[in-house]
Amino acid sequence: MGKCIGILTAGGDSPGLNAAIRAIGKSARTAFDLQVIGFRDGFRGLMENRTVHLEGEILSGLLTLGGTILGTSRDKPHKMPVGSKVQDMTEVMIDNYHRHNLEALVCIGGGGTQKNAHRLALAGMNVVTLPKTIDNDVAMTDITFGFDTALSIATDAIDRLHSTAHSHHRIIVVEIMGHNTGWLGLGAGLAGGADVILIPEISYDVHQVADAIRRRRHRGKSFSIVAVSEGALAQEDAKELAELKEKKQTAKDEKKQKKIAAALEAFQVKHTGNTLRLSAQLEQLTGLESRVTILGHLQRGGTPTAADRILATRLGSACVSAIDAREYGRMVAVKGESTALVDLAEVVGKRKMVPLNHPWIKAALETDICLGNHAG
Ligand code: F6P
Repeated sequence: MGKCIGILTAGGDSPGLNAAIRAIGKSARTAFDLQVIGFRDGFRGLMENRTVHLEGEILSGLLTLGGTILGTSRDKPHKMPVGSKVQDMTEVMIDNYHRHNLEALVCIGGGGTQKNAHRLALAGMNVVTLPKTIDNDVAMTDITFGFDTALSIATDAIDRLHSTAHSHHRIIVVEIMGHNTGWLGLGAGLAGGADVILIPEISYDVHQVADAIRRRRHRGKSFSIVAVSEGALAQEDAKELAELKEKKQTAKDEKKQKKIAAALEAFQVKHTGNTLRLSAQLEQLTGLESRVTILGHLQRGGTPTAADRILATRLGSACVSAIDAREYGRMVAVKGESTALVDLAEVVGKRKMVPLNHPWIKAALETDICLGNHAG
């Protein structure tokens, strides 16, 4: 039997995953004569040894297919729910890795997956990763696949919301995915011509948002589109969250850590309905009618764009070359038109936020888009 590599997809699904699986399967076979198996449902499939052979017909028709044919989950190797317990299942995964006599394991995912893959690399597996997420927030790579597709879906939604907002003279608050970063909200807001864009990187003052809408009204624009990332926070809430995070960093004993973890969870629960609250506040402050549209998982579904298919294919084939060169413990990152291998240790524990001096921010401000905080 020839050499074999394994693939798994973990975290939230992202358009382009199947294109990457296809590229890995095809280049492994064509260029390096490697066999490929897939593990189902992320790290859980590696633990439960649920596999599928990735060869022949199964690799056909994948370029246009959304989701992941392997399935995915957010399960972590070291904190895996098994029955009624949460356990560290790393050893079981290592056994299964050896059972298939794997040359390497490819883990495709966002920030969390990079972290988990790094753990497996430290535990002795030959790991190579690919960066995917619609949030585009993985560190050390220019871009992640899935982002371009989500961007075009969210932009299309904003385009469509314009005509109804205009006809009814309403505010429409459109919530765009991105719990921690605003790449998608900012990009779609810019491309769709939103009048206000609120992102997690810039906490907002609702009065400044209302003022911007009122100013538009005085200029004869009777409607406004507010694009808000799901993780955007009002200034006072952002302050509360920052304080909780700081306490988490400094909490020494387990009891304190648990208390702060519970407070952080309560904070998340309390702020789940933020977009609805913002819409109600804007109605009250401007006297205009407001409606909310939450785009949600629509942004992750369906056919990937041509750009995402090309990106996923490039990364998939570069990943097989990395395995051939025995470049393990690395993420295949995008650097301009090229790819680069980055140590996983450099990737984990970081998040690529929108820098406040980013050209998209500058362009938004210079085209009179309100970002919710004059200070930027
Ligand atoms: O990480 C990608 C992402 O789509 C985020 O933008 C979003 O906050 C989250 O996943 C939603 O996760 P789930 O599908 O598990 O609810």
